[in-house]
Amino acid sequence: MAFKINGSVTWVGKIDWELRKFHGEELSAHRGSSYNSYLVRGEDKTILIDTVWRPFAEEFIANLKKVIALKEIDCIIANHGEVDHSGSLPALLREIPDTPVYCSKAAVKSLKGQYHEDWNFQTVKTGDKLELGGGKELVFIEAKMLHWPDSMFCYLTGDNILFPNDAFGQHYASELMYNDLVDQCELYGEAIKYYANILTPFSKMVTNKIKEVVGLGLPVNMICPSHGVIWREDPMQIVNKYLEWADNYQENQVTIIYDTMWDGTRKAAEAIASGIKEANEIINIKLYNAARSDTNDIVTEIFKSKGIVIGSPTINKGILHSIASIMEMVKGLQFKDKKGAAFGCYGWSGESVKIINDLLQEAELELINQEGLKMLWNPDEEAVEACVNYGKEIGAALA
Ligand code: FEO
Repeated sequence: MAFKINGSVTWVGKIDWELRKFHGEELSAHRGSSYNSYLVRGEDKTILIDTVWRPFAEEFIANLKKVIALKEIDCIIANHGEVDHSGSLPALLREIPDTPVYCSKAAVKSLKGQYHEDWNFQTVKTGDKLELGGGKELVFIEAKMLHWPDSMFCYLTGDNILFPNDAFGQHYASELMYNDLVDQCELYGEAIKYYANILTPFSKMVTNKIKEVVGLGLPVNMICPSHGVIWREDPMQIVNKYLEWADNYQENQVTIIYDTMWDGTRKAAEAIASGIKEANEIINIKLYNAARSDTNDIVTEIFKSKGIVIGSPTINKGILHSIASIMEMVKGLQFKDKKGAAFGCYGWSGESVKIINDLLQEAELELINQEGLKMLWNPDEEAVEACVNYGKEIGAALA
């Protein structure tokens, strides 16, 4: 499959309807994804922007050959070295070996580090241009840490198209391929999940890069990311959304995340939720059993929350592993401006609540209650009431 985006740009990527896990098993992709590769024809030069993930290399090259004789590709742009975009380079460059690969200096390291090949690298930096002929130029903009040190955007003058690689992308398979044609809830659900799970730690750099690019005053008719659909209707809507998301984003939401062995901590979670509701009627309260829910969906809910309440019973002087896993992600994603609270049941030693409190502080969340709430065995009426009161304290702190 290939389709023309306009007179000079053709999409030559791969829609991956089967994808359910990305980054190994780390990131869920409920709606598949696409690896977008673009062929740009100028009067003098034809260039290929990015390739597709390695398992599809053969199919990618076969499809590309239906669109162009490979020897007519004058150069390849590698906006980012990660394997979902560079994975077909080895096979492609076996066919057209000396073709220049334009990339950032850091991408030479990441590409050599992964493929151990000494290709014809041409390093570029922000402001460098590649003349395509007929008044068209490709302008390079380094985008370090969005989301790898090697990441780069490029901009096609004349057609006014930004190719930002991963930025503004979504793991979202759709044959419709344009933002104005797809279900907006699905699109934005996947876009925010992508931001929350991948870009959150780099939010400051997102803001600075967007200001830098917007400051260039370049008209943007289309944004062609490397995953998901192309933004052609009001393309700046996703740029503005990124500015909001990068600014310590939160909605009026609290998310209670727990795991439970014999329902004690679940009962406590529900009693805390009812206390929050009593104290704060308009806050959106969401509950997730971490062991039974998709981790990346929970992370997206955390991203949207002003507070999180984490519960685990004590096991082996520690916490249940689903909660440890979530807390590792909370720490790594470096959420800002969020409050946290801990709770949990125990039978004898009772370390879990202190452990969760320590993890919340390590992740730089502000504790709503320094002690947290721990309950001996399964909560009785008195303990349930303590949970409701704890919920009221949380609800008031988030008002
Ligand atoms: Fe889509 Fe960072 O690769």
